Amino acid sequence: MKYFNNRTTIRNYSSKIIDNELLNDMLEAAAHAPTTGGMQLYSVIVTENEEMKQRLMPCHFNQPMVAQAPVVLTFCADFNRFVKWCQQRNAEPGFDNLQSLMSAILDVTIFAQQFNTIAEMQGLGCCYIGTTTYNAQEIAEVLHLPRLVVPIVTLTVGYPDESVRPVTTERLPLHGIVHHETYQDYTAHDIDEIYAEKESLPVNQGFVKENNKQTLAQVFTDVRYPKAVNEEFAKRLYDYIKAAGYQI
Ligand SMILES: Cc1cc2nc3c(=O)[nH]c(=O)nc-3n(C[C@H](O)[C@H](O)[C@H](O)COP(=O)(O)O)c2cc1C
Repeated sequence: MKYFNNRTTIRNYSSKIIDNELLNDMLEAAAHAPTTGGMQLYSVIVTENEEMKQRLMPCHFNQPMVAQAPVVLTFCADFNRFVKWCQQRNAEPGFDNLQSLMSAILDVTIFAQQFNTIAEMQGLGCCYIGTTTYNAQEIAEVLHLPRLVVPIVTLTVGYPDESVRPVTTERLPLHGIVHHETYQDYTAHDIDEIYAEKESLPVNQGFVKENNKQTLAQVFTDVRYPKAVNEEFAKRLYDYIKAAGYQI
């Protein structure tokens, strides 16, 4: 419990490299995560080569962790391998649909998070990079991803730079996220109460001020995730998934 209550994302890494055997052991242990029907509908691309990291950088809008971390992992939803196995074994696959893709996305997400937990427990620091689905096509080109493979999320991994103090971020109160037996929809009063602490934190008030906004919610809707940008990248992701062979 202590680990879970205190963990934080790490975005600054020391120059210490990650031992190959440790990396393999962690990936091996992560692969024991639950997986749909025991199918393991995922692959992970390990990037350690500096030139490859530089090629991935623009795909992640040049987030510096991608170049700085000794290891960059690109987690992919993958029906390519499983479908090939079916075809080689006289079995007719029917997995190029949204439901199957959802299973692969769940599988790879659980695998990635299991790796994240293991790595953090080993004293490593990790940062998820969500820009993976923003530039799936470009990432697929750099990493040579074949049909039925969709990059879902990236994790940068390294030993924490001890000179940078990690910051623990807030969470909503438990009663704000848990419903018993049936969903109890939120009243305006509930919303005020659930978000009160988040809104009162100096760091979040700072974001409101420096972006010239009236509320913290506006920082999310107008600055971090504006509608037009969401829609543009949603279209690009949709096109990539269709081109990768899924009928969605
Ligand atoms: C799917 C996903 C995508 C994320 N993408 C990014 C990212 O692109 N860049 C970044 O700096 N942090 C990213 N994060 C890290 C979150 O910002 C971080 O987990 C969150 O602020 C909570 O902080 P904590 O992990 O330290 O508790 C991502 C996290 C998740 C789960």
